[in-house]
Amino acid sequence: MSLLDNLNWRYATKKMNGTKVPQEKLDYILEAARMSPSSSGLQPYKIIVISDKALLEKIKGISWNQSQITDCSHLLVFVAWDKYTNKRVSDVFNYTMDERGLPHSTMDDYKANILSLYEPLGEEWQAHHASKQSYISFAMAIAAAAEQKVDATPVEGFVPEKLDKLLKLEGSGYKSTLLLPLGYREESEDWLVNMKKVRTPKEDFITEMTIEDAADFDEAPSGKTIGSLPNK
Ligand SMILES: Cc1cc2nc3c(=O)[nH]c(=O)nc-3n(C[C@H](O)[C@H](O)[C@H](O)COP(=O)(O)O)c2cc1C
Repeated sequence: MSLLDNLNWRYATKKMNGTKVPQEKLDYILEAARMSPSSSGLQPYKIIVISDKALLEKIKGISWNQSQITDCSHLLVFVAWDKYTNKRVSDVFNYTMDERGLPHSTMDDYKANILSLYEPLGEEWQAHHASKQSYISFAMAIAAAAEQKVDATPVEGFVPEKLDKLLKLEGSGYKSTLLLPLGYREESEDWLVNMKKVRTPKEDFITEMTIEDAADFDEAPSGKTIGSLPNK
């Protein structure tokens, strides 16, 4: 089955049947999430996996009582950095350089550039930026689950502050961003399973542009190369 076939097969499952997802399928989904691209490769997020029923019951209570939270096999909790710090960014870049056999100093200019960009934008912007990165990983997990014929419901419907407290995230440098229950659909009790999948029509979704359609914009190029690695 192609990626598009799998994306058509999947849907935001409303009722799961409690069947366990095999470990190798779970591992595959988690690996797809880990392989996600992220801004500057910082991966400012991680995943907590929960299958403990007592804990899932508590999470359901702060997630609008959505039944998938307790009827799933595993709940993936995506959490993202609450801010960017010199140490966090340095740790990631140093690890990357070690893995590539390059000196840590290779990234010094690039690191200084992004920190000087992010710092004045404040911690709220930084947390939001990190959270956006976690959504990309989340999408990878959803697509990988579909490929494995595992149902997954994207869930933003929970109270992050309460979940952070429950999972003892406060003071950890991470905040919860998203939930992804994984499991199997209970077709007989799911109102959405046979509904037509509806998306914005292609002609409204996709716009082609040329220079003729663009504004008269005379800004000189900045000459900055924030997006590329220095040749050191
Ligand atoms: C970021 C995000 C948050 C969502 N939160 C919820 C949620 O809390 N509960 C739920 O049942 N569905 C949730 N959905 C599912 C969407 O309603 C669903 O993906 C959308 O209507 C498209 O339908 P489909 O996924 O079945 O194709 C969420 C989807 C996304 C992408």
